Amino acid sequence: MRIYLIGFMGSGKSHWGRLLSHKLTLPFFDLDTQITEQENKSIVEIFEEKGEEYFRMLEKETLYILTESHESFVMACGGGTPCYFNNIDYMNQMGTSVWLNTRLDVLFNRLLKEKESRPLLKNLSDAQLKQFILKKFSERRIYYEQADLVIEESEASVDSLIQHIMHV
Ligand code: S3P
Repeated sequence: MRIYLIGFMGSGKSHWGRLLSHKLTLPFFDLDTQITEQENKSIVEIFEEKGEEYFRMLEKETLYILTESHESFVMACGGGTPCYFNNIDYMNQMGTSVWLNTRLDVLFNRLLKEKESRPLLKNLSDAQLKQFILKKFSERRIYYEQADLVIEESEASVDSLIQHIMHV
C-alpha cells in the first residue's frame, strides 16, 4: 500500500503522514527531507543555488526512486509535487493519493510563521503572501482535485483517514 499525501504548503501533509504511518506501521517518507538529505542542502539553498527547475527534476526522481524501491509507505509530498510532469498520474497509478484540503485562512496563518524555510515564500510581505496563496492555490487546484481521495483537513483524524483510504 503506497499512500501519497498531497496538498498546498502548510496543509499538514507531514503531520498527518507521520501519524498515519505510525498507526498503519508503514514506513514514512517526507519527500522534501529525502531531497535535503540526498543533496546535503536545505530546500532554500537548492532553489537559490540550482534553481526551481533543478529542484523539480530532483523531486520527480526522488518520487520515482522511493516508489519503485518500496511497496508500502506513507509519503508526504511537497506542495508542488503533483503539479509537475505527470507526477499525479504516476502516484495514482502506483498507489493512492490523498489531498489534504485545508482552508486558505488556516494555510495563511500557518505559513506566516514558517515563511523563511520555504523558498517560494521567504521574500514575501504578509499581504503578498495572502495574494500568493490565492493565486497559486487556484492554479494548483486542478492537480490536487485529481487525487483519489479528498479530505477536509479540519475534519481529519487518523482513524477517519484510514477508514477513507480503505474504501478507495
Ligand atoms: C513547494 C512546497 C514545499 C517544497 C518547496 C516547494 C511548493 O513543500 O517542496 O519549497 O512548490 O509548493 P511543503 O509543501 O512540504 O512545504
